[in-house]
Amino acid sequence: MSDHKLADETILAQGLGYMDEQHLGVIPGIFPSTTYERSADNSYANGKIYTRDHNPNYEQPEQVLATLEKGADAMLFSSGMSAATCVFMALKPGDHVVVPKIIYWSFRNWLQSFAKDWGIETTFVDNGCIEALKNAVRPGQTKLLWLETPANPTWDIEDIRAWADIAQQIGARLAVDNTIATPILCNPLALGADIVMHSATKYLNGHSDVLAGALVCKESDEHWQKMRSIRASGGAVLGPFEAWLLMRGMRTLAIRVKQASNNAMIFARAFESHPLVEAVLYPGLESFKHHHIAKSQMSGGFGGMLSIRVKGGEQAAIKTAAHLKLIKRATSLGGIESLVEHRASVEGPDTPCPRDLLRLSIGIEQVEDLIADMQQALEI
Ligand SMILES: Cc1ncc(COP(=O)(O)O)c(C=O)c1O
Repeated sequence: MSDHKLADETILAQGLGYMDEQHLGVIPGIFPSTTYERSADNSYANGKIYTRDHNPNYEQPEQVLATLEKGADAMLFSSGMSAATCVFMALKPGDHVVVPKIIYWSFRNWLQSFAKDWGIETTFVDNGCIEALKNAVRPGQTKLLWLETPANPTWDIEDIRAWADIAQQIGARLAVDNTIATPILCNPLALGADIVMHSATKYLNGHSDVLAGALVCKESDEHWQKMRSIRASGGAVLGPFEAWLLMRGMRTLAIRVKQASNNAMIFARAFESHPLVEAVLYPGLESFKHHHIAKSQMSGGFGGMLSIRVKGGEQAAIKTAAHLKLIKRATSLGGIESLVEHRASVEGPDTPCPRDLLRLSIGIEQVEDLIADMQQALEI
């Protein structure tokens, strides 16, 4: 058994064996204390001082996530955005970063506004275009490459190995937003990335009831320590109850992600040739432009996110969403219940997102029920 490597399912179901040591309960408790007693010798016996950085409820999800992502360390944050922005806050004014054009829209907005105001220059490159990336990097000045794959909401795929090679050539770090694939389907650190980021609000929690984020590092280097001190001084951490709830959700991550991926594959195929559908965007479809890259770096499925471009344009798409009965019209993704959203309505006039696009977060329901719902909505 000593060389035996535990599967993700086992690591998650057992939560790495954390327990309530005091009562021998199989589930750890919730620890609301914001502060910890100092010992008579003036030390802190268990290393914990104050909850802005230390709480027992952060430790289990952080360790489980670091194990799943095959990383050296992990940190929880109060949201995906606070995790993502922390990576950039650890850069210096004058540093240059390269990011694909299509990424989570709120983060793109943050880069175009706050990051710019702080002196961080971002070059946005066409998704899936390594030539554009090569032309955009500035050796010596480019300190970070950031990508999101599959990219919200068109699910474009970036070749993580190719980005990692370029990052290494110019001495920059590569950070990957792995929210959509999750560590169940893709491990960016094993493909050469230095940092992985998650909106834990999505699949990691999986029940649409916790806002959280996380970072995982390949090495606990100087940049990681700076991010740790940014979190400790800024305090963008979860409350202990939210961290506990996140861990409860994470215990079923593997089975939820696999079920959602299977459902999404069947759903995508069901509408690929539908006469009222312009296109189905899903990395699992062989017709998808980056399918071969997705196949080479994802295993076990292509995720639960897909988009449908509805024939007839924006108004037809909005009308279709309005006629769905089972699939709820709401933002966010990665929960057990299926959601739909007309993304251009959210992202505004400057969005690169096609205006006829409906984003679907496919849940773990019976897929035939979801297909029947979409069929009736399209055909009304
Ligand atoms: C891919 C991706 N990254 C990051 C975020 C931001 O996460 P949060 O809402 O937890 O701040 C989102 C939110 O939708 C997302 O979809």
